[in-house]
Amino acid sequence: MNIVMSTDASALNSEGGPVVPVRPVPSPCLGWSLIGDEEERLVLQVLRSKALFRYYGPDPKSPPPMVARLEREFAAMVGTRFALGVTSGTAALEVALGALAVGPGDEVIVPAWSWVSCFTAIVRVGAKPVLAEIDDTLCLAAGEITRLRTPRTKAVIVVHFQGVAADLDPLMQEARAAGIAVLEDCAESPGASYRGRRIGAYGDMAIFSFQQQKMMTSGEGGLVVTNDPRLFERAVRMHDVGQYRDFHTSQTEAHEPAFCGSQFRMAELTGAVALAQFRRVDQIRAHCRRLSARLLSQVATLPGLKFRRIPDPAGDSGFETYFWVATPALREAFRARLEAAKIPCQQMTGTYAQYRRPYVATGRAHAPGATPFRLGASWPEPAYQVESFPRTEDLIHRFVVIPVGMDHRDEDIDYIAAVIRWAHADLRLG
Ligand SMILES: Cc1ncc(COP(=O)(O)O)c(C=O)c1O
Repeated sequence: MNIVMSTDASALNSEGGPVVPVRPVPSPCLGWSLIGDEEERLVLQVLRSKALFRYYGPDPKSPPPMVARLEREFAAMVGTRFALGVTSGTAALEVALGALAVGPGDEVIVPAWSWVSCFTAIVRVGAKPVLAEIDDTLCLAAGEITRLRTPRTKAVIVVHFQGVAADLDPLMQEARAAGIAVLEDCAESPGASYRGRRIGAYGDMAIFSFQQQKMMTSGEGGLVVTNDPRLFERAVRMHDVGQYRDFHTSQTEAHEPAFCGSQFRMAELTGAVALAQFRRVDQIRAHCRRLSARLLSQVATLPGLKFRRIPDPAGDSGFETYFWVATPALREAFRARLEAAKIPCQQMTGTYAQYRRPYVATGRAHAPGATPFRLGASWPEPAYQVESFPRTEDLIHRFVVIPVGMDHRDEDIDYIAAVIRWAHADLRLG
């Protein structure tokens, strides 16, 4: 490869052009890199109170505050009436699907390119995932809800991929016309907004994740939000073995019959870390937005690069910048140049073509009778085979991603931009 990287800024590459001197670039990290005094203070407060369980502690006169406070502040930020802390984003998906009464015989539309549990959570509640194409937003493509809807479709999961709100106007319109519920998966995008409103309040329900790699983290953790008191009550029951405690009665009266739920309650220690981190979300967004704008101002007009479509740039979180080159081979060549310059260019979170995952290849659930797929029939059905997703396949093999985080400074961005320009010239993309 015609790559010459040097610590000498005046060096020339093998064709006589100037090189970009190699310098270290920080690893992209979001909320966890800010863990500090406030997280310590709140965690210590919980430990000293000895009240580790969210619903009661040793002192009946002072109810445990952390999860309750997180829920209040989070709901206020998103603009929903209710929020419920749970143990993970995956648990939140199962709780929300359960609240929406999704079960055996139902179908749920979900982007073919998404995190593992966007698929497995649907199977866990007994329903059938129906995979949909993505588009140049890297989120669910408009038109897919209409194309894939059947009389059995109960809901659609709209994933807001990596800090960016999906194009909610057309998607909501299609879902409303189809009469199906919308579950927004905001796991990767807390605080992002669309047309002036935070995501999470557009759909019937929404979920968030606080896993280590997410914008705000408590290691593990998640949250469900909704405006609908009936769905909230059902979510509470789903996450607390069917119970609806007095704590929640003060939020909204119970009307639903009890049912067999699971146990996904958030602990106070998790709530303490998540609360401190939650209060940093807008700071993280502002930092990453500023850096991505700086990067774009230097590379957005390079011919031959096509940048991810951000449906509402004002609401973007800015921590990953995506662009496409013409072919997968060029993508590998571009990445090789970035890696040689020590620039991380992998996504910060696992996202997969679901039709290539092992659980899809076998169609298995945890027990044979629990699978929503027809066993014995030829499998995978065409709807789960790679040939059925030409748009998704094309998009996911040609993009380059530049992640940035809290440790990046302006000079890091200027260096990344210089290397992108150099790689672009070196590959003769102009
Ligand atoms: C889009 C999306 N949904 C759901 C989840 C599940 O979150 P968790 O890892 O907290 O279970 C993730 C996390 O990776 C995700 O990226």
